[in-house]
Amino acid sequence: MQYKRTEVIRVDPVEPEPAVIEQAAQLLRVRELVVFPTETVYGLGADALQPAAVEQIFVAKGRPLSDPLIVHIAREDELESLVTEVPAQAWRLAQAFWPGPLTLILPARMQVPKLVTAGLATVAIRMPRHPVALALIRATGSPIAAPSANRFMHVSPTTAQHALADLNGRLPLILDGGPCMVGVESTILDLCTETPTILRPGGVSLEQLRAILPEVQPPPERQHLPEEALIEEAQKSPGQLPVHYAPTVPAFLFEGSPEPMLRAMLKEVKRREEQGELVGVLVADEDVAAFQDCAACIYALGNTAEQVAVRLFAGLRVLEEAGVQVILCRSFDRQGLGLAIRDRLLKAAGGKVIKV
Ligand code: TXA
Ligand code: MG
Repeated sequence: MQYKRTEVIRVDPVEPEPAVIEQAAQLLRVRELVVFPTETVYGLGADALQPAAVEQIFVAKGRPLSDPLIVHIAREDELESLVTEVPAQAWRLAQAFWPGPLTLILPARMQVPKLVTAGLATVAIRMPRHPVALALIRATGSPIAAPSANRFMHVSPTTAQHALADLNGRLPLILDGGPCMVGVESTILDLCTETPTILRPGGVSLEQLRAILPEVQPPPERQHLPEEALIEEAQKSPGQLPVHYAPTVPAFLFEGSPEPMLRAMLKEVKRREEQGELVGVLVADEDVAAFQDCAACIYALGNTAEQVAVRLFAGLRVLEEAGVQVILCRSFDRQGLGLAIRDRLLKAAGGKVIKV
């Protein structure tokens, strides 16, 4: 459906105004879409139990129906109405990380619309740690299916303005709760395989998960597989295509120990500038000085993994809007949130890695 105008309403991210939440919940109940903040990224929500509502998500995003959605709940007892079995592991993880950026893959009940699961026998469930998201789910009286609120294949939105830029005119309402606190999407953990395996690294780290379940496996290193194997893998694990969080300009990820890596980036910036290209660069705060005499657009992501996660998607969008022709990005340590950061950078670069 085409709306003349998408209304953006500010909402208090800590104590959301009940009248604003009610206005949004009313829309969801009548099968409309609402964009709302979560602690990870903004979500494009629909009532998860109404197929006609869920269908609109795919239309608004331009997303293929083969890509299943995450169902957001506000109370643990809602789990039992969505899944056939809650293994003891799931309860322990929920206890430790919910509400929070962890999505669990569990066996789906028949009641979950096929549009939500893309016809799979499993469903992805998470309880977000954002007061606005939780209040909205409660007020709607139904779980909310929500992908990230970006157009398909674009960078995930960490502000209401990012969501508006991608989806203006495609839904009636965006709740603006300010910037997201985590900045990368939830960790997706498959509990339907023999050993719990991470399908997408995210806001809860491998180390944190292993403190509760030592057997948790990291995501398979898909990027090193040949292309045919990648396509086969992607069909088994929908939504895990190597190119996914792509900015609209080509990006390259530089990898290696910090000094040679930065030297190689600097050299590449200069080479491209000599050809008249406008170059965008994503670096840590401490690297900015090294690029001072370049004409490139430099975006500093911070120094800690937490800071980099929060700014990463905004950085890609800022460079894109600045009209750069190429984005060069440094890599970061893979500890903790670093694994999710690396995953998003690899996807933004479409697997184009320059090893130094
Ligand atoms: O942090 C997040 O997870 C955000 C916020 C809005 O909650 N949501 C999000 O949704 O990132 P989305 O749709 O952009 O990514 C969800 C991923 C997709 O790659 C999808 O393929 C995967 O979850 N997924 C959903 N259901 C699945 C299932 N049953 N089995 C395997 N993967 C599944
Ligand atoms: Mg997404």
